[in-house]
Amino acid sequence: MTQVQASAPGKLYIAGEYAVVDGSAAIVAAVNRYVTVKVDDENLPALSQEGRKYYGVIVSEKENYKPIFWTRSSDGSIEILGDEKYAYVLAAMRVIDSYASECFAPNMDHKSYNLHISSELDDAKSGRKYGLGSSAAITVATVRALCKWYGLKPDVPTICKLSLIASSMVKRSGSGGDVAASSCGGWILYRAYDREWIESELGLIKSGESDFSKLLRKKWPRLEFKRINVSKTLKLLVGWTGSPASSAQLVSSVESSVESSVESSVSSEIAHSFTYQDFCDQSEVCVQKLAQSLEKSSLKESELNNISACFAQNRELLQKLSALTGTIIETPKLTRLIEDAIFAGIPAKTSGAGGGDCAIALTTIYEKNRIESMKSAWENHGIMPLNIEVAQIVDDGENSETCVAKALENQPSKSIQNRKDAHLALADAQYNPRANSGFDSVRFMPNALPQVALDEVDSSVRVFVQKESDADGTSASACSASANPAFLWRSPLYINAMTGGSANAQKINAQLARVAAKTGVAIASGSLSAALQNNALSATFSVIRSENPRGFVMANVSAGTSASDAMRAVGMLQANALQVHLNAAQELVMPEGDRDFRNWLKNIEQIVRSCERVRVPVVVKETGCGMTARDVLRLRNIGVRAVDVSGRGGTNFVTIENARRSRGGYDYLADWGLTTVESLIDIQKCEALKANPVEIFASGGVRTPLDVVRALALGASAVGVAGEFLHTLMHEGEDALLQQILDWQEQTRVIMALLGCKSVADLRDKTEFVHSDCLGK
Ligand code: FNR
Repeated sequence: MTQVQASAPGKLYIAGEYAVVDGSAAIVAAVNRYVTVKVDDENLPALSQEGRKYYGVIVSEKENYKPIFWTRSSDGSIEILGDEKYAYVLAAMRVIDSYASECFAPNMDHKSYNLHISSELDDAKSGRKYGLGSSAAITVATVRALCKWYGLKPDVPTICKLSLIASSMVKRSGSGGDVAASSCGGWILYRAYDREWIESELGLIKSGESDFSKLLRKKWPRLEFKRINVSKTLKLLVGWTGSPASSAQLVSSVESSVESSVESSVSSEIAHSFTYQDFCDQSEVCVQKLAQSLEKSSLKESELNNISACFAQNRELLQKLSALTGTIIETPKLTRLIEDAIFAGIPAKTSGAGGGDCAIALTTIYEKNRIESMKSAWENHGIMPLNIEVAQIVDDGENSETCVAKALENQPSKSIQNRKDAHLALADAQYNPRANSGFDSVRFMPNALPQVALDEVDSSVRVFVQKESDADGTSASACSASANPAFLWRSPLYINAMTGGSANAQKINAQLARVAAKTGVAIASGSLSAALQNNALSATFSVIRSENPRGFVMANVSAGTSASDAMRAVGMLQANALQVHLNAAQELVMPEGDRDFRNWLKNIEQIVRSCERVRVPVVVKETGCGMTARDVLRLRNIGVRAVDVSGRGGTNFVTIENARRSRGGYDYLADWGLTTVESLIDIQKCEALKANPVEIFASGGVRTPLDVVRALALGASAVGVAGEFLHTLMHEGEDALLQQILDWQEQTRVIMALLGCKSVADLRDKTEFVHSDCLGK
């Protein structure tokens, strides 16, 4: 007798439930209760009844070992006679049958076999169901066992995709997070594939135009499953309420409620203030943050606090979703369970669809007393602590050193949308309130006798100032009108380039633009590359102009953009100025990024020439790695008159792109580049630039009004902020950002008064500061 066997673990959702169905990320952990599938060929010759050949039986403990016969139709395809109980097993059998023949599997002639299925996920004796994802585990265990049977050794991502295909053949609506966790083991960050795309791919396979091997080789739109390497000291605790719940019914109840509210535009109060899209957006951010906090080799107090805050936020979001859709997610028993844990000092939340089943709590192995007091409270309230741990990482098959897989869609515009959303989420997840941009090393000499009144202080700035030689020359005028050789900004602040290119980005751009309009600060769009490639995305950027019709708006393009496209970008936003961004480090770390920068200088020169003709000033900016005086000189030599040094220390695109890579690998480049302060000082010291200066804007890691004043004193004409404002917007909303900018404007003037400066020019000319060990002026 030949025999092989394979197991697959159950799962528990840690965060991101419901939103995962609509493309947001979720965290799922595999748990150490397994489904095992044995394959053998015992007694096969006897399997023939009434002239019909049977190819094997399927037996399981759950069905009291009653054998179910399976056969093949005339074209060889598998059928289970008269029983629908094994839908996932049948789908897995069909997928692997075809896949094995496509791969010319070594044991392809082993066409007959028996399957024996056993499960530890539910309690077979008492009939208790814990909701650990048995359909997914059965699918994955069958896929794995049959691959072994045919002599195939696929790696973990392949097992995962084969299992996702099989489960999507049975159930259209699932996200597949359970399948991915069951395939990978351990903790994973998961983003669901595009279900419509898979359906059309399965249609192609059915019609013979494609096959499973081709489907496996394709990049699956949106699909992402990435291992989270969680500290060994982290302890997952699981409590069972005693009442089973149907995830499928709960998810479809939420879906139909969301659909009907969209169709009928029902306007309940809550629908106005909190929409399903808000739920998904906020869930994404919360999950990314939680994933970051979990991914620490040793858990410090601050990480535990973050985990606790993320759990509380995810729970609150689910409660809002519950109110929005009328679906009971957190039952009274689940509330009891969670509150018992929180009372014992352990963060907890529902897991999965809720409605019963289990809730989870997370702490460290060192918190024995808290764990004990939580468990005894659970027991007092009729909640059963389950003896469950996170399952080992699965690592079988060829090429399976890592089970990280990431698939980005083939269509460029969709993949850009995904990337834009990932940038927003990751920039926020990596936000650090204490940026290290060097500003703290700049300390002003105090002025005990300021000799000014706050009312006299004017923080307005003139930007894009034209040199006299240009003003009367024929070639260039970097201003709106010949009578006005510069633009007057009431405030030295501007909202720097961030986003555009997706629905979420459009919403953020609209909010930023309204705040810019109300505070009078200038604003830049994110890179318009997406809209230049696909005009349908232009509204996600032009909303900046429609929400801020009279404001100072800067369009943003990459240094590789052609001059004509740069002009189109200006047109899309009716922009007052153009930013051209330099981001070589980001592109190189970005898996799908550019690799050829030979034409940048030439391109920029052409862009500058075209913009001069329509009198649109150009500022060339970095994106978080800073600029040296040498860079600025090279740009000046091709006619660039303004640069934004955008230095290291704030938002970091090397680490953002590194997090998007399936295997990371560039952690050591995290400190690449010059800080904003280093860049400003390098430029200040450059004799060649003193003789023929370029206008300098500063950004990168600006976190306080004091940083703004420091940058102005170090020679900046104006100061840009991206990550700090994004963080406020994403966490506290539009009104909070409005208030923050108003506060910064006022406090900038207050600090100027403290230094005895009535104007930004005074800041440059009259202040003294200590920088590291040298005195500067
Ligand atoms: C950015 N930044 C940016 N810059 C640019 O020129 N084009 C772009 O499309 C983007 N996109 C983008 C997205 C997000 C989410 C963030 C946070 C930032 C870079 C930005 O303009 C700025 O140069 C750096 O972020 C450094 O400033 P902060 O964030 O440290 O204030």
